[in-house]
Amino acid sequence: MERLYLGIETSCDDTSCAIYSDERGVVVHRTAAQLEHLRYGGVVPEIASRSHMRTLMPLYETVMAEARVALASLAGIGVTNGPGLTGSLLVGLSFAKALSYAGGVPLVGIHHIEGHILANALEGPLDLPALALVVSGGHTQLMHVEAIGRYRIVGATRDDAAGEAFDKIGKLLGLPFPGGPAIERAAREGSRDAFDFPRSLRGTGTYDFSFSGLKTAVRLRVESLGALTPSLASGVAASAQEAIVDMLVEKSVLALSEARVRHFYLAGGVAANGRLRERMSEALEARHVPVSWPRPEYCTDNAAMIACAARHHISAGRTDGLSLNTFPRGALSSWA
Ligand SMILES: Nc1ncnc2c1ncn2[C@@H]1O[C@H](COP(=O)(O)OP(=O)(O)OP(=O)(O)O)[C@@H](O)[C@H]1O
Ligand SMILES: [Mg+2]
Repeated sequence: MERLYLGIETSCDDTSCAIYSDERGVVVHRTAAQLEHLRYGGVVPEIASRSHMRTLMPLYETVMAEARVALASLAGIGVTNGPGLTGSLLVGLSFAKALSYAGGVPLVGIHHIEGHILANALEGPLDLPALALVVSGGHTQLMHVEAIGRYRIVGATRDDAAGEAFDKIGKLLGLPFPGGPAIERAAREGSRDAFDFPRSLRGTGTYDFSFSGLKTAVRLRVESLGALTPSLASGVAASAQEAIVDMLVEKSVLALSEARVRHFYLAGGVAANGRLRERMSEALEARHVPVSWPRPEYCTDNAAMIACAARHHISAGRTDGLSLNTFPRGALSSWA
């Protein structure tokens, strides 16, 4: 019999609910982005949690109505309980607990990064063992995925996340927030060789990343340019994007020697970047490792990936009680 799972995601500034079926995949998915933050150029935690409180209930009602499912007939509820903004996480977790209690439905807390990785499992089973590169606003990690629930961090950023580098460079260039999509657009008009930006940790044996040197180099260069014409800005965007992609590709290729893998998955918001996808495919497919990534709406924060993760936890018998708490930070560890 078909089993339906509700996913709830409120870890940062997107409110999202989804219904996932173990037979049909994503049945309904709705994400409401919080536009209130745009005028501040970044996420304001207090505004984020208040906005989740206003949006979550109607969003939940919409997905349940569209999926034509009653609360008590759900097979489980998955909710992101960390890492993220505590106030935002608490809104989602409290709501999920209330639903679980009222409907007598099993509840499971999902690590947000496991959600991003399992966004790749929304349209079919993962090809495992695999390497996954999680590139988002708060994380840059190379992860060995032995099986669903068995994860090992192979490399990680020592400072900024790749998405954070895109966002900060976007800000330096006066582009709208978030910087990633804006830089990708601006980069189409510029030359990748316009400026020579550093590739930190290049040629070293480590699988770690570092983006803070690039950010400083871009800042110094932008300051030295004086008036930033659109053509200079697109040159900076294209050259900085290429530097970020170079670093991500180099360490991903290097990490292939770490373990036997059948597949390489991109995950997280930066996985939406066309140049990253193109370069990663070229580099890894030349080494006979197929590369894939989630659809754009499942790269950034969404509840479909959380519902999918819940399906795997609950079918493996892993659930949480109503004492489940949030956690603001902490690496993904194995549970299976
Ligand atoms: N096309 C793109 N190119 C590059 N970066 C992008 C693109 N689209 C989105 N991003 C970046 O993705 C990030 C948002 O991704 P995501 O929603 O996964 O991060 P987050 O949830 O804030 O962080 P985390 O998942 O680590 O907690 C932002 O930094 C944004 O600039
Ligand atoms: Mg995220």
